[in-house]
Amino acid sequence: MTKISWKPGTMLSPVPPVMVTCGTMEKPNVLTVAWTGIVNTEPPMTYISVRPSRYSHDIIKNSGEFVINVSTLELAKACDYCGVTSGRKTDKIKDMKLELEACQKVKAPMLSKAPISLECAVKSVQSFGTHDMFLAEIVNVNIDDKYLEKDGRFALEKAGLLAYAHGRYYTLGRDLGAFGFSVDKTKENKTKPRKSKFAEVLRAEEILAEKVSAIKKGLGHRKKKEPEKARFQKKRGNDFREKLRADR
Ligand SMILES: Cc1cc2nc3c(=O)[nH]c(=O)nc-3n(C[C@H](O)[C@H](O)[C@H](O)COP(=O)(O)O)c2cc1C
Repeated sequence: MTKISWKPGTMLSPVPPVMVTCGTMEKPNVLTVAWTGIVNTEPPMTYISVRPSRYSHDIIKNSGEFVINVSTLELAKACDYCGVTSGRKTDKIKDMKLELEACQKVKAPMLSKAPISLECAVKSVQSFGTHDMFLAEIVNVNIDDKYLEKDGRFALEKAGLLAYAHGRYYTLGRDLGAFGFSVDKTKENKTKPRKSKFAEVLRAEEILAEKVSAIKKGLGHRKKKEPEKARFQKKRGNDFREKLRADR
């Protein structure tokens, strides 16, 4: 395997394609943003990088607020749509029948269908060239209670989260195990690693790959039917000319 050097670029994948709501309940807008992330734990800080040409750019700059809505399979179409159409030309919220809810700490609304909506207050704006980075504090977190289990666990794996990699959208893959599974030890036996699903998932992937390969082979066999002459010769060890003679 050889590594090939490419020109510098934004080749970090996957990233979350979030839906950022801005404006007010009365005059809202939403745009899709992939250039986002967490920059600090306490206080919780995030950023979004937005091109000045976006309709949302000045709304966020003037209000100093926005909401990051985590997108899901259910929101995938709307997520893409809000990233390829502008609030300058159309009402994306109406077009995609998006439901909004009022936030607690900011005037910008949140998306009802998002499993997580982060209310953000802008702390600074920094221009880097193509994009302006809005550095913001997360001032309130909203989670959809339909993902709250009876024991209080937030079952985010049930939300169907989206990822964005190299221009394509994906749903998340298999659960490999919890944070720290590589070093964790059970309480009962400190020498025995806690059971992770890593090996199990690898095996499942192997079985799947074998099945896919067998199916592909089967399809190939059916598609490429051997010519009659070859089949006849293989079956009987006969000379095809004899068959032709006998058929006459
Ligand atoms: C998956 C995806 C990710 C995007 N990420 C960004 C981003 O990080 N920053 C940005 O300025 N525009 C990004 N865009 C483009 C904007 O969402 C798009 O230009 C949108 O139409 C702007 O809407 P507005 O004019 O209503 O603000 C992205 C689009 C898609 C589809």
